[in-house]
Amino acid sequence: MAIKNPAPSRNARILSVGAYRPPRVVPNSELVERIDSSDEWIQQRTGIQTRHWAGADESVTDMAVNASRIAIARAGLTPQDIDTIIFATITYPYQTPSASTEVAARLDIKGAAAFDIGAACAGFSYSLGLANDMVRTGSATHVLVIGAEKISDFIDLDDRATSFIFADGAGAVVVGPSVEVGIGATIMGSDVENRDAIAMVPSWIDYKPGSDLTNLAWPVIHQEGQKVFRWAVYEVAKVGKRIIAESGLSPADIAAFIPHQANERIIDSLAKSMDLPESVIVARDIRTTGNTSAASIPLAMDALLEEHPDLHGKTALLIGFGAGLVYAGQVVELPPQPK
Ligand SMILES: CC(C)(COP(=O)(O)OP(=O)(O)OC[C@H]1O[C@@H](n2cnc3c(N)ncnc32)[C@H](O)[C@@H]1OP(=O)(O)O)[C@@H](O)C(=O)NCCC(=O)NCCS
Repeated sequence: MAIKNPAPSRNARILSVGAYRPPRVVPNSELVERIDSSDEWIQQRTGIQTRHWAGADESVTDMAVNASRIAIARAGLTPQDIDTIIFATITYPYQTPSASTEVAARLDIKGAAAFDIGAACAGFSYSLGLANDMVRTGSATHVLVIGAEKISDFIDLDDRATSFIFADGAGAVVVGPSVEVGIGATIMGSDVENRDAIAMVPSWIDYKPGSDLTNLAWPVIHQEGQKVFRWAVYEVAKVGKRIIAESGLSPADIAAFIPHQANERIIDSLAKSMDLPESVIVARDIRTTGNTSAASIPLAMDALLEEHPDLHGKTALLIGFGAGLVYAGQVVELPPQPK
């Protein structure tokens, strides 16, 4: 007896996107004194003008729940229609149970598969690739994919390489069945030679009772800015070309480029190296949102669709990259205009 194919010839697509930005806007001027910098320097080197930071009473899951509610409603669904939740984050402050199960409990989603993904700034694209595979192969029907971060809890305000880069926010998409192919091949990979280039230290074990806590600092993100910059510009551009080719497309077929929002100079360099034509609309959400790690692609997607409603249903190239160093990306059909 042959095993039954659970979902013959089924495709998947992004049905909707939702976003949430915490209300507090933090301008560069608020951060520059402690790192001997200037608004001009930060804008010139990164493109960032302002970012949002959550308050002490707002958690990463509060933001995720807000973004998820919007995405589910825009898909024309109710929370009970969701059968799988994938939550990409590096800032959920509990080792277990997972952030995805907290979202399930708070949205009253019963019985759903729920798990978290730790792939840093590539987490959303990894999760989207998994959601696509799950819907296509029949292990899920409606997947809620969340990218959310409260990185402001893990920033050293005196660190000149990070304090002005990272920010808070949440984005979510619902992935569901579709007749046409709405999500192309996901290319995922890593470059572990550069594993130390971005890291959050120390580890939990360092805080174990009995450890010497005298000089132990709160865990914060550190990075070797130049190393990350060079890697992103050279290696991620090659990944982008592979994604387009594996999707059976050429750069001229892409309507929008929505990369991880790490640095506007990286975004420009990637677009140039991949020979994206001038007609491609490039997401530059970094200017007012900063680098929100796993949240950055869905946040940028939502902002771009708000600004350019004609992009609904058009083809976009997504690429995430970050600590590990890891990367993932795919070409997608952007969600349709919500009814
Ligand atoms: C962090 C980053 C903005 C630093 O810019 P940079 O040009 O590489 O900075 P460098 O460390 O080489 O320092 C260059 C000069 O700027 C100064 N500088 C460094 N940080 C500064 C800051 N925050 N403000 C003002 N001056 C600064 C240095 O002192 C140095 O001065 P000098 O030329 O007089 O010696 C940049 O490396 C970067 O964006 N990297 C990518 C990071 C990233 O995207 N990470 C997330 C990936 S998911």
